[in-house]
Amino acid sequence: MTRIENLYCYGKSMNISSHDKQRIIAETFTARFGDRKHKIMVRSPGRINLIGEHTDYNEGFVLPAAIDRAIWFAVAPRGDEEFHFVAADLHDEFACSQNAIRKSSKAWPNYLLGVLEQIKKSGHELRGCEVVFGGDVPIGAGLSSSAAIEAGFAFALNTIFALGFEGLQLVRLAQKAENEFVGVQCGIMDQFVNIFGQEKKVLRLDCRTLEYEYFPFEHDEVCFVLCDTGVSRRLSSSEYNVRRGQCETGVAVLRRHQATIQSLRDVNLALLDQYKNELEPIVYQRCAYVVRENARVLSACETLLRGDLQTFGALMFESHAGLRDQYEVSCRELDVLVELARDIPGVLGARMMGAGFGGCTLNLVEKNRLAHFEEVVHAEYQRSTGRKARTHVVQPSAGTACALQ
Ligand code: GLA
Repeated sequence: MTRIENLYCYGKSMNISSHDKQRIIAETFTARFGDRKHKIMVRSPGRINLIGEHTDYNEGFVLPAAIDRAIWFAVAPRGDEEFHFVAADLHDEFACSQNAIRKSSKAWPNYLLGVLEQIKKSGHELRGCEVVFGGDVPIGAGLSSSAAIEAGFAFALNTIFALGFEGLQLVRLAQKAENEFVGVQCGIMDQFVNIFGQEKKVLRLDCRTLEYEYFPFEHDEVCFVLCDTGVSRRLSSSEYNVRRGQCETGVAVLRRHQATIQSLRDVNLALLDQYKNELEPIVYQRCAYVVRENARVLSACETLLRGDLQTFGALMFESHAGLRDQYEVSCRELDVLVELARDIPGVLGARMMGAGFGGCTLNLVEKNRLAHFEEVVHAEYQRSTGRKARTHVVQPSAGTACALQ
C-alpha cells in the first residue's frame, strides 16, 4: 500500500488522532515532493452552526463554531511558477502554471484555483508551490469542507509568501473564491468561522457589521452529535440561489414603502405583515422564516449566558421546523432524524444544519445518554429510510492556524 492509499484509509477512520492525521499528510508530502526546507503545515477546520441558518446572506446573525475535524495542508514554495496539488484522500493530483489558471472539469482543484485567482486579482504576484492536503471533514455532509479548503489554502499562501492579508481579508478572499470561481453564492459564515473560530467557544457573527462575540461552550455534561443522512446535497446550490432570490424579492417590495430597508435585517414581523398582501405567499413565508430565525439566534445567545441548555435545545427544534415548513430546505431524511431525536431521552435539541437538502443534523445530547442515542439513531433511521446514518461527535475547536512540525 502506498502512503497515499494508507492516508485514504486513515482519513476514513474516525479513531485516528489529529496528530496522526497531520503526520500522515506531512509524510505524504515528503514521499511525493521530498524534503522541503520551507514547508509549512496548516490545520483548517470544518464547522457546525448551532443556530441561524440561511441568515448570513440576509445580513442577519449566525452562531457557528469551528470543529475538531479538519483539512491538513503541507505547503512549500517552488522556485518557479508551477502549482502541484495532491488531494491525498482522493488519490488524485493536479498541476498547472500561473498563467493557465482556469476552471477545471474536476471539481476539487477549483477550490484551490479559485484562491489563486483571487490572490492574483488582489494585485499580488503569484509564485509556485507544492501542496498536499487531506483530512477528516466528511465531504458533502454540510460541514463546510469547501470553506476549509479555500480558507486553509489562502492562509497557507499568505504565510509562505508573506502576502500580508489580515484575518478578515482572508475570509473575504476565500468567500470570493467560492462565489466567483466555484460558482456558489454562499454567504460569509463558513469562511469567517474557519478563520476566527476558537477552542471551546461558539461565535455569534453579525453578518451585516461583521462584529462578532465569542460565547464559551464548556458544558461537560452535553456534546454535539452530527447525524449524517447520507443524502448528497444535490439540490442545495440551485435551490440555495432560489432562496436568496426570494429574500431579495421580498426586500425589493418592502423597500418601495421604506427606502431605508437594505435587507431582511431591517425588517420585523409587524412590518412584514403590514405589506403581506403585496408579497407573494411564498416570498412572505421565506422572509418570515429569516426574521424569526434572526430573533432565535439572539435568544439562543441569551440562553447560553444563563446556561439554560433546555431552552437552547427548544430553539434548535423551532429552527428546524422553520427550515422544514417555511424555508423548505429540509428533506425527508433530515426530518426523520430530527423526529427520531426528539423522542430519545437526553436529547436537548436537534435540527438540520447548513444549506439543507441532505447532509447532517446537529444534535445536542447529554453525554451519559450518547451510547443509547447512537444506537437508536442507527437502528431507527435504517428502518425508516433504508439508509445507514453515520454519527460523529464533534467539539468547538480552534480556527485555521499553522501547526508545529
Ligand atoms: C451554506 C453557505 C453559508 C450559509 C449556509 C446556510 O453553508 O455556505 O454561507 O448560507 O449554507 O445557513
